[in-house]
Amino acid sequence: MAKLTLRRTRLSPAIRDLTRVVRPVTAQFIQPLFSVEGLRERESVPGLSGVWRDTADSVLRQIEADLQSGVNKFLLFGVPAHKADAELEHAYTAARIAAIKTAFGQDIWLAVDTCLCSSTTHGHCGLLSASGNYVDNPATVAALAKAAGLYGDSGADCIAPSDMMDGRVAAIRATLDRQALEQTLIMSYSAKFHSAFYGPFRIAADSAPDAGNTLQDRASYQLDPGRPNDALRSAQRDTAEGADVLMVKPGLPYLDVLRDLSQTIPLPWAVYQTSGECAGLDALSQANLGRREQLYPETWTAFVRAGASMIISYAARNAQAWLRQ
Ligand code: PBG
Ligand code: ZN
Repeated sequence: MAKLTLRRTRLSPAIRDLTRVVRPVTAQFIQPLFSVEGLRERESVPGLSGVWRDTADSVLRQIEADLQSGVNKFLLFGVPAHKADAELEHAYTAARIAAIKTAFGQDIWLAVDTCLCSSTTHGHCGLLSASGNYVDNPATVAALAKAAGLYGDSGADCIAPSDMMDGRVAAIRATLDRQALEQTLIMSYSAKFHSAFYGPFRIAADSAPDAGNTLQDRASYQLDPGRPNDALRSAQRDTAEGADVLMVKPGLPYLDVLRDLSQTIPLPWAVYQTSGECAGLDALSQANLGRREQLYPETWTAFVRAGASMIISYAARNAQAWLRQ
C-alpha cells in the first residue's frame, strides 16, 4: 500500500499556507496608463478588460480609483495628437506628468515610458535615416534624452526607455544629472523582444509601424526571440550605462530569460506582462474557459518565482482583489 509522503504537506489550507514560499503581493505591481491627446471621452482598449485610453481628465480619476484598489505605482504612456518625423513635441506627455504629480504627489510613484513611436508619423521607435531604411541611432538617442529631461523636469519618478537603441541609458542619465535630477530612476526595457504579443498596445498607443514603411517592423532594434545571449548583452550594456532597474518583456514567453538574467545580474528586475499576453488571458476568461482571477495570479506567481521583483500588468489594478493577501 502506497504511503502518504509529499502529499502530507498539501492536505490542508493551513499547511499549504505555511509551506508556500512564492507569494506575489500588491506592492509589487505597476499599472500602465494611457493618456491620449484630443480624445473627448475615454475609450476601451480592444481585447483588454478594464483598460482605457484615457483623456487628460479621466486619467486623474482613474488614478484616484486605482489608489482605492491598492495600486500606487504607474507607468504612463502619453499619446500626442500631432505626429512628426523630426523635432518631436513631448509637451502633451510632460503636461500630464505635471498634472498627475500636482494632484497626487508622493502618494504615487510615476514611471514614464520614453519612446518616439507614439510621436512619429511612421510609428517606429526612433528617427529614420534620410533613406527611410534604418533607424538613426545617434539622432534617436538625442531625441530620447531630450524627452527624458522634459519628463524628469515635469516630475516623473522614473524614466523608462522602451526604444531599444544603443546608448540611450547613458544619454538619459547624463541629461538627468545635468538637470540636477540625480534622484530620478531609469528603468530600462533591456530585454525587450521582437514579439507578436504587443497587439492591443499598439492600438492603445497609436504606435503600430505603418505598413507603407520601407522598414516594416521593429526587428532591426528589438531582440530576436531565438537569441538569449543578446538579452544578456543588452542587460550588461544597460547596467554599464547606469540603469537602476532592468526589464524582461514579454513575460511568459521569456520566463527562462527572466530566470537566467535575474540570477546573473544583481539589479532589480521588472517583468512586463504585455497587452497580448493579458488579452489572451482575458479571452480565455470571456470564453468561459478560465477565470481571470485565477489565470492572472498563476502567471504572477511564475514571474516572482523566475526572479521578478516588480510586475507591470494591465490587470495590476485587480491584484489586491485577486491575490491571497
Ligand atoms: C513601444 C512599446 C511597446 C510596448 C511598450 N512600449 C511595444 C512595441 O510596440 O514594440 C509594449 C506594451 C504592450 O504590449 O503591452 N515602445
Ligand atoms: Zn516605441
